[in-house]
Amino acid sequence: MIRVGVVGLGMMGLTHLDIYHRNKRSEIAAICDSDPARLHGEAKAAGNIEGQATFGVEQLHNVKRYTDPAELFADADIDMVDVCLPTHLHLRFGLEAMRSGKHVMLEKPLARTAADALKLAEGAEQAQGLVLIAHCMRFWPGWSWLRDAIADQRYGKVLSASFRRVATHPGGPFYLDGERSGGAALDLHIHDTDFVQFCFGMPKSVQSSGFAHITSAIDHIVTQYHYDDVPLVMAEGSWSMAAGFTFNMSYTVNFEQATLAYDLGRPEPLQIYREGTAQTMPVDAVMGYDLEIDYFLDCIERGKRPETVTPQDAYRSVKLVEAEVQSVAEGRTVALE
Ligand SMILES: NC(=O)c1ccc[n+]([C@@H]2O[C@H](COP(=O)([O-])OP(=O)(O)OC[C@H]3O[C@@H](n4cnc5c(N)ncnc54)[C@H](O)[C@@H]3O)[C@@H](O)[C@H]2O)c1
Repeated sequence: MIRVGVVGLGMMGLTHLDIYHRNKRSEIAAICDSDPARLHGEAKAAGNIEGQATFGVEQLHNVKRYTDPAELFADADIDMVDVCLPTHLHLRFGLEAMRSGKHVMLEKPLARTAADALKLAEGAEQAQGLVLIAHCMRFWPGWSWLRDAIADQRYGKVLSASFRRVATHPGGPFYLDGERSGGAALDLHIHDTDFVQFCFGMPKSVQSSGFAHITSAIDHIVTQYHYDDVPLVMAEGSWSMAAGFTFNMSYTVNFEQATLAYDLGRPEPLQIYREGTAQTMPVDAVMGYDLEIDYFLDCIERGKRPETVTPQDAYRSVKLVEAEVQSVAEGRTVALE
């Protein structure tokens, strides 16, 4: 049984707690939040996806409660820590967690800036424990399958790939502060940036348009990722939809022999179009968060370094988003090394 300590009991911390509570490999040993109301379940966050962040910490008995992450990191009864703190705190507490010698799961984006993300990726290489950065789309049903279809070319080569993720603003002081959250570009759209990297590797350059709306950072962005071997790859991300809009994520990927289309807004999200027919592809009714956490618990049990997402991958995704934001600011194509 892997004894887990979760730090930060907001939208993501509660989502993860729910999963550790259900998972047979893990046991929740400690929780931490600097806000006593969050620590005792008197104040609660809500998630984007139905069924997310439903966990109530008041259900937990015989669990240690800390307001200082350092005390949880020093707790000898914990094997793994899960850092679900706001992004600007990832550098400090991510490094502290890695230096504690425990296994570390750290929320995406790896850090607020690419320079900080590099320090964390380097810290992960020195860490005694295993490290997983929570790029959940790499595990999401219907999305990991797409990546496999791209890799094994079962429908031929990709002609075009388009990803879209749009939401209302999540609210709260952290998300309203562009300096701390990085706006929708770094917080939300990075899911697609990272997935593009997962499918196609690093692009040679990016060209983006976008605007700040709710925060001082980019709250709506559209990017074209340039590759020599894929004609068209693009992604749109926004959290500036009007109140009442339902969160949606989707993709349309056109191969030489089929078109695959995923739309979270449909009862059956994944469709395959080929040879004049439309076929519904069943998608497991589980969130990528469950699969990502189970994957990491499995890595810990086996003593095997995670390969599906590495800290270097997570660093490159922050670097890519930074290039996209630079492209918006300067109105030009930005090359990646
Ligand atoms: N993987 C995903 O799909 C996904 C979804 C949402 C958020 N996230 C990421 O998760 C991270 C957290 O987001 P969230 O929505 O849970 O934020 P949140 O604001 O809802 O929660 C953060 C929690 O951390 C606590 N906290 C702040 N400073 C602290 C400190 N010094 N010590 C202890 N606790 C402290 C706050 O009191 C709060 O309860 C962000 O980096 C965000 O980008 C990932």
